[in-house]
Amino acid sequence: MKSLSYLNKYLIKYKWRLIFGIICIIVSNYFGVKMPTVVSNAVNGFIGEIKSNESFNTIALMSLKLFGFYMLLSIGKGFFLFLTRQTIIVMSRHIEFDLKNEVYNQYQRLNFSFYKKSNTGDLMNRISEDVSQVRMYLGPGLMYTINLAVLFTLCVYAMMQIDVKLTLIVLAPLPLLSFMIYKVSSKMNKLSKYVQEEQSAMSTIAQETFSGIRVIKAYLREREMAKKFDDSSDEYKDRTMRLVLVNALFMPTIVFLIGTSTLMAIYFGGLLTYTNDITPGDIVAFVFYVNMLTWPFASVGWVTSIIQRAAASQERINEFLDVVPAIQSCCEEPLAKIKDIAFDKVSYTHENSGIEAIKNLSFTIKAGETLGVVGRTGSGKSTLLNLMMRQIDPTKGEVMVNGENLKKINLDDYHKLSGVVPQEVFLFSDSIRNNIQFGVNDREVTEEEIIDISKKAYVYHNIVQFKEGFDTLLGERGVNLSGGQKQRVSIARALLKKPDLLLLDDCLSAVDTETEDFILKSIAEQSKNNMTVIVSHRISSLRYADKIIVLDDGSKIEEGTHEELILKEGIYSEMYHKQLAEND
Ligand SMILES: Nc1ncnc2c1ncn2[C@@H]1O[C@H](COP(=O)(O)OP(=O)(O)OP(=O)(O)O)[C@@H](O)[C@H]1O
Ligand SMILES: [Mg+2]
Repeated sequence: MKSLSYLNKYLIKYKWRLIFGIICIIVSNYFGVKMPTVVSNAVNGFIGEIKSNESFNTIALMSLKLFGFYMLLSIGKGFFLFLTRQTIIVMSRHIEFDLKNEVYNQYQRLNFSFYKKSNTGDLMNRISEDVSQVRMYLGPGLMYTINLAVLFTLCVYAMMQIDVKLTLIVLAPLPLLSFMIYKVSSKMNKLSKYVQEEQSAMSTIAQETFSGIRVIKAYLREREMAKKFDDSSDEYKDRTMRLVLVNALFMPTIVFLIGTSTLMAIYFGGLLTYTNDITPGDIVAFVFYVNMLTWPFASVGWVTSIIQRAAASQERINEFLDVVPAIQSCCEEPLAKIKDIAFDKVSYTHENSGIEAIKNLSFTIKAGETLGVVGRTGSGKSTLLNLMMRQIDPTKGEVMVNGENLKKINLDDYHKLSGVVPQEVFLFSDSIRNNIQFGVNDREVTEEEIIDISKKAYVYHNIVQFKEGFDTLLGERGVNLSGGQKQRVSIARALLKKPDLLLLDDCLSAVDTETEDFILKSIAEQSKNNMTVIVSHRISSLRYADKIIVLDDGSKIEEGTHEELILKEGIYSEMYHKQLAEND
């Protein structure tokens, strides 16, 4: 329960809605509690007037008055009930909105090292499922709890005014009712969770079938997949049937317990009229009160489970909000230009795998230079770029920018001045245009610029082939680009920023050597005065590099220009000759 106190700041933010909501609950219930007294007076009045042989007109007039009075009370109650929902439920929706934004902003603050540890489904749940559970507590949860407290107080007060003993007798079964409903709804919760689990297992099977349909057909596994689905849906059916059974028991339990209370009111009330302690009208009022209290009491069990679930969800949300991003921009001082970068005996060990991906690495690169990085798969090339972008911090050593530790550099500016083409290309489900201008948000990008940049990235001729050109939508409901086209759109995105520091992680692997040469030339031309780091498996990608480092198992084993490295006849020259032979 303690976890829910985190939400108090939001309750304070929306305190006027909450207070007004509570007032509405009180007024609405006040009208509600007055209604049985009207009926009670009517019964007593009619009995009295019939006994004293009043005329038909007198009775008709009295009926009309009571009718009007009852009507007014109903309208008042209904109106304030409407206002209650409009304030408290609306408040809960506002808080839901705020909380979702808070969680989302935290997603954006956290870095690479956090995402390495978490799985996507879990993160999605935090913002959708967990926040919804919390909303249920803030909306219906709070509303029904306050309503119960107010109604109970008013009802019991009204009943006590009539007769204390009868009140106690009639209320006796209500706690039992709450308890039983609590039991039944916990059982229902457990079963529905159980049903949901099987449901998601079923959707996973279906989803895998859709996405893997070609593999399934090619390997003739349709029958097995169908059997797997059949088993899962059988299990789903069984679990649902159990839930249906418990659901079916729910209403009869309530009806039975209300019936008991009503019977007690009539039986003991009847006995009390004999001694003239209460009037027949009072019995009617009691039956009304008992029925009024039933639903709120019945909801206690439901509300309890809402609160329990919300507490568990909020605990998960709090845990997540408490995570402090490992990497934060340290200072406000703006960074105008990236002039040079130096690695000084940098080592990096991946926390989760314990692999030392970079070992004691030193090198420098200055504005106007192009650095080539080559090495076998797993040699630490992408890790090097991650260190350079400060996605991760070195375990040992320092990354220096303009002679200063990168940790002391304004990270937002640093990222603004750099452009990255990651190894795994990511394009948004949006138009090609928006994907290309994604990195530029501080100015308008002209059509000419976009055309020019896509020509440089050698993707323009592909884009114009689409009917909608740059407005072609990508992603699931749009066009699928080929691997090489994706890489080139991603290069255009980075080039458009005209960055001081351009990082290319093996991003020409899916294009042929001629295209590669064209793109490399335009990159070299555009970033004449800037820094470029090109990572590649292919030696041919490094032909315009001023300096090349060869990584092996995280260590730098060779360094120099292409010619120097060839003359050395080490690993680099061996790779070069092998690749030449392959090309031939
Ligand atoms: N997120 C991670 N968690 C744990 N270990 C990792 C992680 N990423 C990379 N590694 C390990 O670090 C080492 C270097 O990986 P890196 O991705 O830098 O290699 P690479 O040179 O870019 O390889 P490739 O050419 O295949 O892209 C590898 O042994 C890899 O298993
Ligand atoms: Mg890599």
